[in-house]
Amino acid sequence: MSQQLKLKKDVAKAALSYIEDGMILGVGTGTTVNCLIDFLGDIRIKGAVASSKVTQEKLEAIGIEVMDLNFVGEVDLYLDGADEVNPNLQLIKGGGGALTREKIVAAASKQFICMVDESKWVTQLGREFPVPIEVLPQARSYVAREVVKLGGEPVYREGFVTDYGNVILDTYQLNIESASDMEQRLNNIVGVVCNGIFAANQADTLLIAKSTGVEKLTR
Ligand code: A5P
Repeated sequence: MSQQLKLKKDVAKAALSYIEDGMILGVGTGTTVNCLIDFLGDIRIKGAVASSKVTQEKLEAIGIEVMDLNFVGEVDLYLDGADEVNPNLQLIKGGGGALTREKIVAAASKQFICMVDESKWVTQLGREFPVPIEVLPQARSYVAREVVKLGGEPVYREGFVTDYGNVILDTYQLNIESASDMEQRLNNIVGVVCNGIFAANQADTLLIAKSTGVEKLTR
């Protein structure tokens, strides 16, 4: 097993202690979440809200009831990974393309615990990992031009369609001095469905796996 996979398993295991009997759990998407799902079969939750079709299938395969967010109301706890996290517990997400549903479930949850390995820790978001922007297909070129005006370099994610039938612009070179401000600016572009900066819906708690153990940060 690679060291990174070991860290993902470590952090997923650490997150289990926050899950209580009878909870409705929000479950994110990605390789860290997949490690978590491997542990969920033994836990007695009421059900789960999935942040992607892939996660839904994985949850159902181990016998967990997947619920429609519209019929659940508030979710007790949202557990998900991230592509980058800064010291304010603001995130970039959407490397797997599930950002919109992830942000919806995060917003509808009482608590968001983010699970990462130490490779995801950065001082400023967006210097290395591009910000994924989900865009209505018809608005792709227009949004790309507007993103360039903000200093970004958008790259169309070829051959990828989101669960909602939209496309993704992976945007490099954005100077994200204020994650909240950039999240808002991107949201204000007509045709943008959602962007991968999680500032308004940042993590409440960060579990970060290091070779020395799992550390917890709370805002
Ligand atoms: C999915 O769209 C993403 O937001 C993931 O949560 C993020 O890419 C983290 O993925 P890994 O756990 O695979 O690193």
